[in-house]
Amino acid sequence: MDPEKLIISGGNRLQGTVKINGAKNSALSIMAATLLTKDVCILRNVPRLTDVDIMTKVIRKLGVKVEWKEDNNLYIDSDNFNNYEAPYELVKMMRGSILVMGPLLARLKRAKISLPGGCAIGARPVDYHLKGFEALGAQVEVEKGYIEAKVNILKGDEIYLDFPSLGATENIMMAACLAEGVTKIENAAKDPEVVELGHFLNKMGAKVEGLGTDLIEIEGVKKLHGVDYTIIPDRIEAGTYMIAAAITGGDVLIEKVDPLLLKPLIVKLEEAGVRIELEKSLIKVTGPHRVKAVDIKTLPFPGFPTDMQPQFMALSCVAKGTSVIIETVFEKRFTHIGDLIRMGADIKVEGHSAIIKGVKKLSAAPVMASDLRGGAALVLAGLVAEGTTELSRIYHLDRGYVNLEEKLTSLGADIKRVKE
Ligand code: EPZ
Repeated sequence: MDPEKLIISGGNRLQGTVKINGAKNSALSIMAATLLTKDVCILRNVPRLTDVDIMTKVIRKLGVKVEWKEDNNLYIDSDNFNNYEAPYELVKMMRGSILVMGPLLARLKRAKISLPGGCAIGARPVDYHLKGFEALGAQVEVEKGYIEAKVNILKGDEIYLDFPSLGATENIMMAACLAEGVTKIENAAKDPEVVELGHFLNKMGAKVEGLGTDLIEIEGVKKLHGVDYTIIPDRIEAGTYMIAAAITGGDVLIEKVDPLLLKPLIVKLEEAGVRIELEKSLIKVTGPHRVKAVDIKTLPFPGFPTDMQPQFMALSCVAKGTSVIIETVFEKRFTHIGDLIRMGADIKVEGHSAIIKGVKKLSAAPVMASDLRGGAALVLAGLVAEGTTELSRIYHLDRGYVNLEEKLTSLGADIKRVKE
């Protein structure tokens, strides 16, 4: 496909209502979990994103039947798949493919997965995943860029995670569901996507307890059955539109999202002077003329989410005062800073900390996305920059935002997608 770019003319206040699609990272792990049963699974409210498309390609490659029906429903039938290899050409496009490893070990007792490379935000190792599978009895070897794992019988064990890794928690949980005995994951991730995966597994007949805490216990069962499940709304997509309302001094209603999943962002936006009104599954965001500077430190859930750090930094660029943003989860998640500076932001980086002196206005410039959420930060900056911003490499954005420019246009933004 020809490369495309976004043309954004800044200065419009956003007003109106935006619907939030299904959560990308919840869809990815639940799609992997469907491999654990021979029955058909139906997943509803699945977002049509490139990351999801790649995951459908990965599981199809394994021999699983995957079909889109209606507009956002996936029918997945892994009755008799037998290929246990996830090849380099697919895994290099989407690191989340590693999530098929746990289900493959549980179902086929084998897995051959291309070692996911790093990406713009960090080295992204998978050592916690592999350590977990070894604890469950798998032999794991890494050579020539592939992870080869095999096991006779998966046996439950106690696994301590050095860091509450979201992916490692999910991968180990899926393998443990069909292991013999009990598995305890200590220092487990508490993210909503982990909780959702656990709910899906329990609906399949698994026995997972402690979801949302740092100790998850899984009692292995013999078999899991098919499930009809609806993916939750995407909290990061919702958070991005909340910041779009805040940065443009707008008035936006965010539909179909559970405010509880966005607590850290809501608290920080209110500290910055943004008015937030909560209904059951609605969030009304009213931005002030200019937000106040606030400090942010990203932490594992329930701390401030690293996936919202770049977007919040865009807001800080035009805040009144100086903000300090510390990124503790990924070692290189500041790729957006160079381009924000090109747009007139005043940012200095000291190790994992960014010091942002708010400026009265940003100016449009040609910029490019280096990763998904960094790209979102540049869109947000373009919404308020004086002049017309051209953002290239927007394939990064298509990994995580459904109909981004359509939704922003419906809120009053002047934004369009053109061929490069
Ligand atoms: C998941 O990535 C998400 N991806 C990320 O979203 C999200 O930023 C991240 O969790 C943190 O919330 C998916 O769910 C597909 P981690 P994951 O394991 O699982 C280190 C997006 O684009 N680590 O919690 O890879 C790692 O390097 C992405 O949607 C190890 O050292 O995140 C990082 O510093 C961006 N060894 C930290 O832990 C391991 O084996 C957190 O990683 C695993 C992780």
